[in-house]
Amino acid sequence: MNESQRNAWERHADRLLVEVPHAELSTSVADDAHVDWAATFGRTAPLIVEIGSGTGDSLVPMAADRPESDVVAFEVFEPAVASTLSRINRAGIDNVRIVVSDGTQGLAKLFDDGAISELWTFFADPWHKKRHHKRRLVDTDFAALVTAKLAPGGLWRLATDWEDYALWMREHLDAAPGLVNVHGGWAPRLEARPVTKFEARGLAAGRRIFDLTYRRADAAQA
Ligand SMILES: C[S@@+](CC[C@H](N)C(=O)[O-])C[C@H]1O[C@@H](n2cnc3c(N)ncnc32)[C@H](O)[C@@H]1O
Repeated sequence: MNESQRNAWERHADRLLVEVPHAELSTSVADDAHVDWAATFGRTAPLIVEIGSGTGDSLVPMAADRPESDVVAFEVFEPAVASTLSRINRAGIDNVRIVVSDGTQGLAKLFDDGAISELWTFFADPWHKKRHHKRRLVDTDFAALVTAKLAPGGLWRLATDWEDYALWMREHLDAAPGLVNVHGGWAPRLEARPVTKFEARGLAAGRRIFDLTYRRADAAQA
């Protein structure tokens, strides 16, 4: 971390980071971890989760646009978290908390089934090459986990600048029981999503940006 990131961590971590017990790895989440989100936010509100929030470039403006919701972001890279802390502070918002842990484990262990109104995974992992497909965040098991955690009617919004990964997402998520592709194909670019440096980098390299939105079917449809 640079000096300003260290300062941001010291000033804002107590208020904005949620500590969870870890298992063997420092980014893991222990099986018995539990967070009372209503107590954490001081209210009961729809819960949005972001996995891989980076420096908060989309997290913070999107949370600021949704004062009626609370947003829990998972990010494992501490310098990026520190930058996000300062950004949240500058925005003057109180509806975001960050967990410095793996988002898949956090989603599985820290939320009841049906507790999430939305999940955001925007440019969330770097494994765009086919030979790295085993490391990809999005796969059939992850889709089942997300489906369980979303409330009926809840939305999963995704974006990537890698066509191969976008097609992989379609292949796995279009086939996932209990998820409905809201647009029947690629989603229009989510207007509320600011262009982050990762999206700009993809565009500058001539890549197309792929947005997707899935909805958890209600019990009758599932
Ligand atoms: C390419 S960046 C994108 C950041 C942000 N979503 C944006 O669009 O600017 C991906 C981020 O996801 C984080 N990440 C990847 N997999 C993760 C996981 N399973 N849990 C938490 N963070 C993760 C990485 O550390 C990295 O900061």
